[in-house]
Amino acid sequence: MLQTIVRLRAQVQLSALKVAATVLPLPKPLTLVGNGSSTRLMETIQAMGVKRLLVVSDRPLMEIGLLNPMLRKLKQLKVEVSIYAGVTPDPTFSVVNEGLNHLSQSGSDAVLAVGGGSSIDAAKAIALAARNGCKPRKLIGVLKARRRGLPLFVVPTTAGTGSEVTIGAVISEDENHQKGLIIDPRLVPVATALDGRLMKNMPARVTAESGLDALTHAIEAWSSDFATEETDGYARAACRLIFDHLSTAVHRGDSLAAREAMATAAHYAGLALNQAGLGYVHGIAHQLGAFYGVPHGRANAIVLPHVMAFNRDACETRFGEIARYCGLASEDSGDGEATNALIESVRRLIAEVRIDTEVPGLQPGDFNAILRGAFAEAHGTYAVPRYMDYRQGRELLLML
Ligand SMILES: [Fe+2]
Repeated sequence: MLQTIVRLRAQVQLSALKVAATVLPLPKPLTLVGNGSSTRLMETIQAMGVKRLLVVSDRPLMEIGLLNPMLRKLKQLKVEVSIYAGVTPDPTFSVVNEGLNHLSQSGSDAVLAVGGGSSIDAAKAIALAARNGCKPRKLIGVLKARRRGLPLFVVPTTAGTGSEVTIGAVISEDENHQKGLIIDPRLVPVATALDGRLMKNMPARVTAESGLDALTHAIEAWSSDFATEETDGYARAACRLIFDHLSTAVHRGDSLAAREAMATAAHYAGLALNQAGLGYVHGIAHQLGAFYGVPHGRANAIVLPHVMAFNRDACETRFGEIARYCGLASEDSGDGEATNALIESVRRLIAEVRIDTEVPGLQPGDFNAILRGAFAEAHGTYAVPRYMDYRQGRELLLML
């Protein structure tokens, strides 16, 4: 009985979200693409009238000098720059508050994020909280901001989160690292640059795990009941690019073609998830991060094949279609056979890019708490193709 009420409430909430997604305009950033596009973006920033810019990044990127060409260009263009390079993986509210202090001290009128999903999410929260004059924690939830943020520009240096285009930002609590999600179309940057050259030095492990994050975005958006013709186009393209190029990007990191393909794939997957949403893979993966410190992309890789197997009866036609589109199954194969090929190809790709699929410390005593967190995120937020209950969730966790 209780399960039925919870399920009904989730369905009502989902229907409201679907209406909101249809009615609310979903902005897209101006996107510059190709070798050198990150430097060209600095010209766009100046042309938009920015006088003082807060650059949000992390120390390792500063130390290898990745930002130098962009900083030189900004100097040449006479844009005053202040740098906050204190972003850490899975940024907390302390990180966002530190960034806000830098912003107010420098009097910056715009924000530029250079880095992976962590720097981008922190910069999104900084830009939105600054203009709204509120504590960043107040922004957690759906549409909590009252006004637009400061103009935000983004240069991603990993190919995975698609955060340069999404309406979400994940910020963690300092004490227990529970993740809070800000969802607001006003988080979408004004402009972004997909510059594969900046990704050539990304370590193989980060490349592999980010790539699996992007693949999960594409597959969850593809499987969602909120999928549309537009999101299908993005999800399809992202999947194909990832199956074709991720392995090369991991094993031959200096291949500019593979890096550019993966940057595009992550961007498309972000566009797909913006409207279609995610699913149980992310719900459970976020908990594996909070409980055991498993990095986001790796956690997705661990969970993805199992949730696909759980969804297979509800998604066989859809899975079959995308498997054939990506060339993972022959054109004349049936949906069942093609779905097997898709799930097997995901498993093979995870092994090929050498992702560690162990969850150190995972124990049945934590299962209920993990599922409580996962379902709190998923139910009523994600238009999952098949509803999961606690018994099914525990069975799935036993397979990890
Ligand atoms: Fe993700």
